[in-house]
Amino acid sequence: MVSKLQAIAVCLAAASSLVSGQTFRRLGTCPTLGCILPPDQQDFLPGQLFDIRFEVHAPKNGSEAFNNGVPDEKFTATIVKEEKGHGKGPRAKSLTEFFGLKQEPKLEKWTFSWFEDLFAKDAKTPSVVNVASKVYRSVALYEPGTYTVVLDYYGGKTTVATWVVRPLAEKKKAKNVIFFIGDGMTTNMITAARLLAHKTINGKYQSLLQLDKFPVLGHQMSHSIDTFITDSANSASALYSGHKSTVNAMGVYADSSPDAFDDPKVETIVELLSRIWGSAWGAVSTAFLADATPIALTAHTRSRGHYGPLIDQVLNGVTANYSSWTGHDGPDVFFGGGAENFLPGSGSYLGKDYYTEFAKKGYSVSLNKTALLAAPKTEKALGVFCKSNLPVWLERNIFPENLDKLSNDPAGGKGAAKDLPGLKEMTLKAIDILHTRSKKGAGFFLMSEAASIDKMMHVLDYDRALGDLLELDDTIRATVEKLTELGILDDTLIIVSADHGHGFDVFGSADTKYLASQDDDRSKRDAIGVYENSGLSQYTIANPAISYNTGPNFPLNWDPRYVLAAGLGANPDRREAYGVDKSGPRTPAAPLANGSSSDYYANAKDKPNGFLVNGTLPTDQAQGVHSLTDVPVYAMGPCQETFGGTYNNIDVFYKIATCLGLGHGKHVTQGKKGGK
Ligand SMILES: *[C@@H]1O[C@H](CO)[C@@H](O)[C@H](O)[C@H]1NC(C)=O
Ligand SMILES: *[C@@H]1O[C@H](CO)[C@@H](O)[C@H](O)[C@H]1NC(C)=O
Ligand SMILES: *[C@@H]1O[C@H](CO)[C@@H](O)[C@H](O)[C@H]1NC(C)=O
Ligand SMILES: *[C@@H]1O[C@H](CO)[C@@H](O)[C@H](O)[C@H]1NC(C)=O
Ligand SMILES: *[C@@H]1O[C@H](CO)[C@@H](O)[C@H](O)[C@H]1NC(C)=O
Ligand SMILES: [Zn+2]
Repeated sequence: MVSKLQAIAVCLAAASSLVSGQTFRRLGTCPTLGCILPPDQQDFLPGQLFDIRFEVHAPKNGSEAFNNGVPDEKFTATIVKEEKGHGKGPRAKSLTEFFGLKQEPKLEKWTFSWFEDLFAKDAKTPSVVNVASKVYRSVALYEPGTYTVVLDYYGGKTTVATWVVRPLAEKKKAKNVIFFIGDGMTTNMITAARLLAHKTINGKYQSLLQLDKFPVLGHQMSHSIDTFITDSANSASALYSGHKSTVNAMGVYADSSPDAFDDPKVETIVELLSRIWGSAWGAVSTAFLADATPIALTAHTRSRGHYGPLIDQVLNGVTANYSSWTGHDGPDVFFGGGAENFLPGSGSYLGKDYYTEFAKKGYSVSLNKTALLAAPKTEKALGVFCKSNLPVWLERNIFPENLDKLSNDPAGGKGAAKDLPGLKEMTLKAIDILHTRSKKGAGFFLMSEAASIDKMMHVLDYDRALGDLLELDDTIRATVEKLTELGILDDTLIIVSADHGHGFDVFGSADTKYLASQDDDRSKRDAIGVYENSGLSQYTIANPAISYNTGPNFPLNWDPRYVLAAGLGANPDRREAYGVDKSGPRTPAAPLANGSSSDYYANAKDKPNGFLVNGTLPTDQAQGVHSLTDVPVYAMGPCQETFGGTYNNIDVFYKIATCLGLGHGKHVTQGKKGGK
């Protein structure tokens, strides 16, 4: 008997070490038993389409157990626009009456469960909740002002949401918008990248980043609607729609239903641009194209991992299933990685061949740089250059021998992708096509993402992260030149920002030679030079033996003896030796035991010369994680002055939408209907 209890205790202890500490919620935006989605405190662009969902929860057990788990199916809801100073304001109306809907939506019912805390998770005792719900699809609020929505349920309980419809903006001030996103990029990383690539003499930089030349700089707060650390899905969604969301969700407010595609949607910038102006639009990314930052332009889902269906949404919009959604015109350009979601098979939607699906709709399809550069400017263009993410700038330019080891052929073969473009080639080609295809006055919108700043920060590979940041800066520099050549620089608003940060900074230099020569962890740390011993950047000094010719905006030497000593604020257990990894991106932590993929410890094969640093994250984390920091917003062009100061990430959307005249006080029909 005793031994059995001991066995259970051991079992529980083992299980608890696999769980990461967090705050569990029944539904993040809904602390009461009646939920309004969009919830309280949300902002809207006038005329922006969205869905409204009401949920009434009846917890069957757990600390909130109520009404024997029977939800109130007779709940009612009203909406009213607040009028100040006119005596008796307007009457609150039912949603059906207010929005002039033909019929009341039908009642939906489902059950979900959640864990109240880590103890409940360890004991595998979820709390079960029964739900009654209704959803109102594709409505809009046209008049600026404050609206109050009230949900009445269980004969006397109420939940109230206050919504703000922002001012009208029907005038188009910028013809084009180019929105660069350095995924996970912070000011600290920009500072470190400048130090790597630009030389100082006696404290004075001899050249600068293109970012340093932007006239306006602001700060945006990246937190999610219901947590303070965001992921790239809901932060991208906030930037593109003006509505914050929940981790893993994009283009929707997360509801509690099991279906990842039925959540209440909000209209995104490219949907608005397609509907109102008929603008050309495109996305370029060094990630796989179904990844959060590029896909959130058109995605409406609770669950970012549905890659195949989300590629279908890019091309075809939100199809039949949840009907009556406005949709968007397919992208004019769509360039990046992620062939596994286009090739027919388990990664693509319904197993279809999406190269063919795009081609059927008039797209040129390029699978390498040569084909990309030759693609006609007059046609819509799809470019998919490898499986998974594009290999990073350092591999493509400094260690090309590592490319041959990969099995990432975009055509589905076993070999490596050959002839890869970089962010610069993809972005310049995108601008050519968008400029050619944009109709007079309608302009274009382009999102260009340097994705692997984030991806390489996650694996603590700072050289590769900063290499991709320098590639982003080089791309922005080339973009300014290209827009000048095309004569459209003054008509184009250029924004450069990030979706979230990583707690990275540089704290000194490291003498790699001394570090490698010491044999215990404590003396290896003496190789780090702080304050006066940090010295100057050795990356900008030409060494005839190992200098690389990658242009003036990149280091001359990636492998000097004195390297940057840098780190993240949140780490898994790891070894540290600083200096560039010549064999490829790092894998800082590895599974501790046989067969366990959720208990990580420093990877013995990573930086074998280095010293051990124990992490600060739960041991189920194999990589670094995102951080809380506000991230910079650089602006140049029409409306640049509106981007100064500190604001929320949703405000980036409202500033862009205002500059593009997207806030309409009346029904506007499709800009370039059909033919797509
Ligand atoms: C709630 O009920 C389910 C069975 O319906 C059970 O599995 C679960 O452990 C219960 N949770 C709590 C907190 O009692
Ligand atoms: C749409 O519905 C069909 C049929 O039920 C289903 O196979 C498909 O996965 C759904 N698509 C999405 C994007 O949910
Ligand atoms: C690039 O793509 C073109 C057209 O798809 C193909 O003919 C060519 O062989 C490819 N080049 C390489 C190096 O794979
Ligand atoms: C498990 O560990 C043993 C001994 O270290 C090793 O021989 C074996 O290959 C490992 N198995 C797996 C699946 O990693
Ligand atoms: C790191 O943690 C391990 C146990 O996981 C311990 O043996 C070791 O002493 C720690 N090392 C340092 C440098 O703190
Ligand atoms: Zn990330």
